[in-house]
Amino acid sequence: MAVEVVTASPEETEALAAALARTLSVGDIVAVSGELGAGKTTFVRGAARALGVTGPVSSPTFTIGHRYDAPVPVAHLDLYRLAGIDPEEWADLEPYFDDAIAFVEWPDAGAGLLPDPRVTVDIDHLQGDARLITLSCDDSGLLNALAAALARYRD
Ligand SMILES: Nc1ncnc2c1ncn2[C@@H]1O[C@H](COP(=O)(O)OP(=O)(O)OP(=O)(O)O)[C@@H](O)[C@H]1O
Ligand SMILES: [Mg+2]
Repeated sequence: MAVEVVTASPEETEALAAALARTLSVGDIVAVSGELGAGKTTFVRGAARALGVTGPVSSPTFTIGHRYDAPVPVAHLDLYRLAGIDPEEWADLEPYFDDAIAFVEWPDAGAGLLPDPRVTVDIDHLQGDARLITLSCDDSGLLNALAAALARYRD
């Protein structure tokens, strides 16, 4: 099932991501898709803040990933520069995910190796600063928590 939310600013996208983040637990992977500049890193920043990351959260464009210290560590990967990954490269990436909550930009490059995400996020440009954010998840337990979080976000 999928939920669609329109955000009007980066701050709203961060707040939506924060609401999602509070429903996640260790081991969860969130795939974040969308064209260049759609707001994927902005979304991850909002989620990371809510999970207790205090330092800057920036696009890991020149490294594949960051791992941030937090009560539950937060991993942030950007697979943009990878055309695809082979098992050897995957072995290098796996430690990012250990005992963490992980966010992956450009997840398609990890197809076949990246474990199934618990939640998939798609971000589309609308007019100006508006973004259509689609959250998909087929886990009924998480879905209920997510629906409650979205209701709080909309209040
Ligand atoms: N509603 C919105 N949600 C998210 N970002 C927004 C929104 N409106 C404007 N922006 C701006 O759009 C830009 C999104 O940049 P961001 O780095 O988050 O995108 P990205 O999808 O990670 O890009 P890349 O593909 O380069 O990794 C930021 O400058 C942000 O301030
Ligand atoms: Mg980015």
